[in-house]
Amino acid sequence: MVLYMCGIIGYVGKDENSLEALLEGLSALEYRGYDSAGIAAFDCAGRLRTVKDVGRVSGIKEAALEIGASACGIGHTRWATHGAPSKENSHPHGTDRLQLVHNGIIENYAHLKKELTELGYSFYSDTDTEVAAKLLDYYYMRSGRRFEAVCETIKRLTGSYALGIVFSDDPDTIYAARKDSPLIIGIGDGEAYIASDVTAFLRRTRDYYRLEDGDVAKISARSIEIYNGGKKVTREKLTAKWDHESAEKGGYDHFMLKEIHEESEAVVKTLRPRIKDMLPDFSDDELNESMLKHITRLYIVACGTAMHAGLIGRAVFEGHAKLPVSVEIASEFRYNDPILSENDLVVVVSQSGETADSLAALRLAKQKGAQTLAIVNVIGSSIAKEAHSVLYTWAGPEIAVASTKAYSVQAALLTLLAIRCAILRGEMNELSAREFVRELYEDAPRAINEVLERVDHIKACAERLYKSEDMFFIGRGTDYALSCEGSLKLKEISYIHSEAYAAGELKHGTISLITEGIPVVALATVSSLHAKMLSNIREVRSRGAVLTLITNGESEEADMVIRLPEISERVSFLPTATVLQLLAYYTSVFRGCDIDKPRNLAKSVTVE
Ligand code: G6P
Repeated sequence: MVLYMCGIIGYVGKDENSLEALLEGLSALEYRGYDSAGIAAFDCAGRLRTVKDVGRVSGIKEAALEIGASACGIGHTRWATHGAPSKENSHPHGTDRLQLVHNGIIENYAHLKKELTELGYSFYSDTDTEVAAKLLDYYYMRSGRRFEAVCETIKRLTGSYALGIVFSDDPDTIYAARKDSPLIIGIGDGEAYIASDVTAFLRRTRDYYRLEDGDVAKISARSIEIYNGGKKVTREKLTAKWDHESAEKGGYDHFMLKEIHEESEAVVKTLRPRIKDMLPDFSDDELNESMLKHITRLYIVACGTAMHAGLIGRAVFEGHAKLPVSVEIASEFRYNDPILSENDLVVVVSQSGETADSLAALRLAKQKGAQTLAIVNVIGSSIAKEAHSVLYTWAGPEIAVASTKAYSVQAALLTLLAIRCAILRGEMNELSAREFVRELYEDAPRAINEVLERVDHIKACAERLYKSEDMFFIGRGTDYALSCEGSLKLKEISYIHSEAYAAGELKHGTISLITEGIPVVALATVSSLHAKMLSNIREVRSRGAVLTLITNGESEEADMVIRLPEISERVSFLPTATVLQLLAYYTSVFRGCDIDKPRNLAKSVTVE
């Protein structure tokens, strides 16, 4: 089966606007997938024309613009996790009567395909989406009624889907449906959009409706009608706080670099509404504080970089609130039959709020009776909506696939929450809490900016490292948590093989890989562990490692030293993360990599 993690856009409105809006939307959505792209749009004679191909959106631009004046169309950018990207497998899919774009997985596609084959349908691709399109064709042929045919079709689908549909004989309308995959409707002036994400139409409108599971919408330039279970429903009108500039590069070479530069501001924006009188205050978030006081165990569940932010969170919750914490990889947690009760709090951390494994973990935690809290960057996303409570991070849109500012705000917010938790549980008095909050809210953003001012030195270190094919990151305690993220960042975008190791564990096997010239990045920012780190540093150096040391202490012998700005150790994870992100960034720049769109990766992983 071909699985998808894709971006959807649709436009209906004015003649001159459709193709431009569709192409612009697709480019903005490329972070969701970029191995093929396609568009189906009506030309000025009202004929539905389809253009699609393997590769980036820019590859179909010329052919798409040849469609000419168009007032309505749908588009798709695809990311395949199984099966080769090919023109045949690219969306839109359909027949002479209709075209359809899809994000998600139709789980019963094989069964439906068999049924449709018996009815005389044949298939040109190996996609589940083509099956959905042909099923819709069948129902439309049978009833001659478009909306009813869409409803009949989705009743038969199991799995997840966001669908955008146009019928050849109805050039003024887009139909949309969703279940377990994000889909929103943008509200313009005499124009409307469908999209997987608000960034797709942010240049044109900031108002939108978020479709809910089971919704089917009929969208024209004049009206937007949404139905669920056969009844007309209204959905709250939302307004994106992001403007289109914040979703564009703003003069930086890459979104990743821009987003690293936005880190200190993002941290301040995320913390500011939750600090009163220099103490944590979550009253505007309507957080159930008695729950924070009474829980006996905390689980932080997430994927990728968000999970690494959880590792930072664990150190603060355990160290200061004295609450036992497990950090779990969502894709493991969901199948491990975790033992949960109402005394447990499961915090799901996610930039997108749509990561399939994190969402499934959240649902499982709820089903098992645990309390749940989402830490999410996208307003109204599935994880935000389904958790008992939500704390939004205010990082703004993160476009680069490699997450940077989202990580920093997640780690900062978890820290603030841990401080609140420590106060509530009587583990920290207000005086100490104020000092901690001040360090986090005032000193840490300043230190991040100081790192950015010293970027040339980090760049010089990257220049010495970029030709390596293997690299190791070592640290203890929080430095180990940071090493995991530094190593992930490097491999994601530079394709250098890299591993993060708890420094003390290295000698139990992996040190056999440390030979003459192997680069090791050692983190030594925890003073109580400095002496231990020093031994580990000597171990690797004596085997010929080229050592880059990131430290707040006196420099040990190292080939390169990156010194952190003056900052309390409790919050030095923030500037350290910035150092690691910049090191990965410049290493990849020297290697000439496609930094914002690394191979095989997607920003928002809405499939398992
Ligand atoms: C993908 C992204 C990562 C991200 C992870 C979790 O793998 O490439 O950068 O950390 O998903 O995403 P989330 O949106 O849940 O934070």
